[in-house]
Amino acid sequence: MEPGALADRFVVTDPQLVYLDGNSLGRLPQAAADLGVDLVARQWGDRLIRGWNEGWFDLPERLGDKIAGLIGARPGEVTVADSTTINLHRLATAALTARPGRRVIVTDDLNFPSDHHALGALGAELRIIPSDGIHGPVDDLIEALDDDVALLSLSATAYRSGYTYDLPPLAGAAHGVGALVLWDLSHTAGSIPVDLTGGDADLAVGCSYKYLNGGPGAPAWLYARSELQANLLNPHAGWMGHADVFSFSAEHVPATGIRRFRTGTPPVVSMALIEPGVDLIAEVGMEAIRAASLRLTDRLLRWFDDEMEPRGMGLASPRDPAVRGGHITLTHPEGLAVDLALLEAGVVPDFRPPGGIRFGPSPLYTTLDEVDRAMTVLVEILDSGRWAKHRDDDVVVT
Ligand SMILES: Cc1ncc(COP(=O)(O)O)c(C=O)c1O
Repeated sequence: MEPGALADRFVVTDPQLVYLDGNSLGRLPQAAADLGVDLVARQWGDRLIRGWNEGWFDLPERLGDKIAGLIGARPGEVTVADSTTINLHRLATAALTARPGRRVIVTDDLNFPSDHHALGALGAELRIIPSDGIHGPVDDLIEALDDDVALLSLSATAYRSGYTYDLPPLAGAAHGVGALVLWDLSHTAGSIPVDLTGGDADLAVGCSYKYLNGGPGAPAWLYARSELQANLLNPHAGWMGHADVFSFSAEHVPATGIRRFRTGTPPVVSMALIEPGVDLIAEVGMEAIRAASLRLTDRLLRWFDDEMEPRGMGLASPRDPAVRGGHITLTHPEGLAVDLALLEAGVVPDFRPPGGIRFGPSPLYTTLDEVDRAMTVLVEILDSGRWAKHRDDDVVVT
């Protein structure tokens, strides 16, 4: 697949806008826009409560099975629910309960802040292994694993640098000391091929609004390896995870499969809108997406070497394609002001402090020509120094 080959399957209202933030919020698939009308006007407006027996009730696991196909999981191992952070709380708590007597969780300092917050709030000791700021500290993580460790939890792809772990060695090391492993695939799913089954993963979570193109605030998903499900308890027990939901039994009997990780009523409208994006990815295939993604990030790296580094920018992402993610982060001492100047010029990356501007060219709809246009604008902004007028801009979401 050529990078951007599926652009016409997405809603593009402004062809001049270069959108390089698919790693934060994916574009709207045209099929999702069409489905949204049907969901509201027909499914909700006409079918009303009957909709629950016409696909709504099974939606979290039906969609979960489709997401499973993108991440090397098996049917019955993924469900869609709540936010990534809630799912992390849920699975990490279940893991601690399944490893009584062990009170340590190991992670790295590349992990997303919300993961640190959630993992740190469980009453366990959180060991945060330092990195060089770009690459995963693989050897030190393995070193940190001992008999006290219940869980190793990492972002498979780091939100700042994009560094991407190889799953099997870390899973092997965690299992070697009797710990479980929990991956956050928010920046991986839909961007980089991943094999949860072959990688011996126990647990995983991820969001749907980035490379899966599920829409702003779309519900997240969670994965639990089939063999473990019977021994993992959902700490957020609720009626939707009951073995027999409509028995209205006061006693909580967990469902046997992945549905035990449900808690309350699924948000059908936003959840259903995830499916068209997932279908597009399945149609193209993860290997083709990854190949196109590497061409896009290669192009960004070439621009960095030729034009940005001589102008004082830094590279905060790995070059090695084996561990490179779907986005490239370039640094500048006045990164936020440069980011805001790009936005003003119709180029949309995002900014992560202290000085990182993340360029996330989603391969389904981003062309090499768009990368060239964006980088030409960046050179012009650096040369003119017009980023300086954005130094004092007041922004909430960066
Ligand atoms: C790697 C990673 N994990 C977790 C989150 C938080 O996800 P949520 O807001 O769905 O809880 C994000 C958000 O961007 C993220 O990038």
